[in-house]
Amino acid sequence: MDQEQTVTGKSIFRIDGPPKVRGEAKYAAEYKVPDLLHAYVVTASIAKGRILSIDLSAARQFPGVVEILSHKNRPWFWPVSFLYKDAAGPPGKPFMPLYDDRVHFSGQPVALVIAESYEAARDAAALVGVTYKAEPHATDLARSPAFIPRKHRIGVAPVPHPTGDADRAFASAPVKIEAAYTTSPENHHPMELFATTVEWGDNIVTVYDKTQSPKSVELFLKVAFRLIGRKVRVVSSYVGGGFGLGLRPQQSVFLAVMAAKSLKRSVRLVLPRDHMFALGYRANTVQTVSLAADEKGRLQAIRHKAIAATSQFEDAQDPILLFSASLYRCDNVKLNYELAKLDTVSPCDMRAPGAATGMFALESAMDELAYALGADPLALRLTNYTERDQSENRPFSSKALRECYAQGSERFGWDKRSHAPRSMREDKELIGWGMATGAWEAAMSPAPARAEVRLRSDGKFEVTSSITDIGTGTYTILSQIAADELETPIERIVVRLGDSALPFNPIQGGSWTAATSGAAVQSACRKLKAKITSQAKKAGVLDRRPGTELLSASALADLLKLRRGGELSATGTMFSPPFGKRFSSATHAAVFAEVRVDEELSVVRVTRIVCAVAAGRILNPTTARSQIIGATVMGIGKALHEDTAYDHNLGRCMAHSFGDYHIPSNADVYDIDVVFVDETDTQVSPLGVKGVGEIGVVAVAPAIANAIFHATGQRMRDLPITIDRLA
Ligand code: MOS
Repeated sequence: MDQEQTVTGKSIFRIDGPPKVRGEAKYAAEYKVPDLLHAYVVTASIAKGRILSIDLSAARQFPGVVEILSHKNRPWFWPVSFLYKDAAGPPGKPFMPLYDDRVHFSGQPVALVIAESYEAARDAAALVGVTYKAEPHATDLARSPAFIPRKHRIGVAPVPHPTGDADRAFASAPVKIEAAYTTSPENHHPMELFATTVEWGDNIVTVYDKTQSPKSVELFLKVAFRLIGRKVRVVSSYVGGGFGLGLRPQQSVFLAVMAAKSLKRSVRLVLPRDHMFALGYRANTVQTVSLAADEKGRLQAIRHKAIAATSQFEDAQDPILLFSASLYRCDNVKLNYELAKLDTVSPCDMRAPGAATGMFALESAMDELAYALGADPLALRLTNYTERDQSENRPFSSKALRECYAQGSERFGWDKRSHAPRSMREDKELIGWGMATGAWEAAMSPAPARAEVRLRSDGKFEVTSSITDIGTGTYTILSQIAADELETPIERIVVRLGDSALPFNPIQGGSWTAATSGAAVQSACRKLKAKITSQAKKAGVLDRRPGTELLSASALADLLKLRRGGELSATGTMFSPPFGKRFSSATHAAVFAEVRVDEELSVVRVTRIVCAVAAGRILNPTTARSQIIGATVMGIGKALHEDTAYDHNLGRCMAHSFGDYHIPSNADVYDIDVVFVDETDTQVSPLGVKGVGEIGVVAVAPAIANAIFHATGQRMRDLPITIDRLA
């Protein structure tokens, strides 16, 4: 099919849009199930200690209450760490709610009320009286001793290879800076709350769950609740955002299935917004970066140390230092990574985990170095541009970062920037322009991913895979790929996703779904096309005039009739990565930000952002652009708003809603301009796709912090940059 007729690469509106707008797309808490009970979680009010007693007398008498579970009367379950390993899990023992009388963190589930209605469960939960024996706790990263993790998380290298002798090079270099940066804990708040509806049947348990991995949840439940002989089906057809919190099976699905198994009834559990603060968070960090350069601005040494929060029971790890060794040309790199155990829930992946925090420090430090040199911040990046990954000593599969700098700066008008801080203003507002580089891995799923395509009797092609669409556009891009591979109009493609009964495809995350699932669909379609072509030829129904569909709907119907209902289907499997260790692969971005700072009130407005992205082939400019805009807004939140504030005396998170956990509102978001630069990559994936889910967030916070320095002359090294810190 010639270029003109292909739909891949075109701006197709998302096909899940209309069903979502019409309310036909069902989310986990929306499935109608007969005789449904509702559950509500009672949470711990201390950060560490033991449960002494649980008084249920008042709660049990509350009208509508059916059962109240705690560690004392819960059904048996298996502590899964022996048999089940989370693909996204760090070393340690995953938290299991209602396991015993230990309290590991404030907000931990300690009891579960199950009632005839949500309201009854919620109100009765307030009547459960728990007494504790509290023990001294630690929730403050700045006061907690750190250690070097001995075991590393599978598939993630939190510390890349160091090179040279950074200490000696730093000592002898003519220009140098050293600074400490901190980032706040942040929580995932996708629009859809974490929720599970369990439909309990004698032979099959259907679990409608909010997750980024129906397959992981199915396996987890089978192991934990010994449901091996029973059929467990996990359905997550539509997911209202994930950001990484749904990579692992969550407390909500565990508790809902526990209740259903205990009562042999169908149960729904919807976590309210304030309970979502106890599910996982982006680890807060304390970082030190030292950079040294010669007079021409060539980097002589990079030293980057990060201390990150983790829980007492897992060594959560983020690739915070991932790009400090590979983004710039430098012979001497030294990296240190440490964790501090806190009495909190385990931190977990959150959009561009590690990179978004580590690159805030590195890219702020690069701006500081530019000012120490008297150099333009963009020129300094170009001076230190590298075509090789020095840490791994190998080339990049592709790297169009130079074009990102060029097109982004031109779009922004960077050449009109005056160098000196406080040199641009309009009325009472100081204007600042800042920039930063972003990078993220261009990966494929570490486990093989499958997709199936089947010719239906109505002449449509049905593509199926267990992978979810967490709002990213997966339904749409898979439809586009299938339409082109099968040389058929996109209207004749039906995509079904998010169901563990469908072909195995492990996890939506890591920005790898488009590349991995797309390649699996491509392979399945190619196989099916070969089958159809040969059979249609034999049957004499093939229409191969140029410019026409591979097969018209009526020809396909004839073919199926000739086959007398026999199936025509094919499965594609994607193994990764195709090129082994010959290349490093990453997506890149250059972000340029304009801020306006009210000189009297210190209110910051981010009035303009240009984000130039190199992410290989863009399958759909509309959905890809939406990914980058969403990530940019998240970056504004990271820079200015998001902070899970703790009362360290209580060891308790003080945020309970969007009233006290601030995210950008519409009024905080002005102009966001997204540029995709051309990047051809024949190595990274069969489709040349690198992924756009995460790259958009990485460079936004440092670009804004650097713009604030340019506006005010104040170097803001602690996130978020709130009014009180800036004043
Ligand atoms: Mo992403 S943090 O892999 O959902």
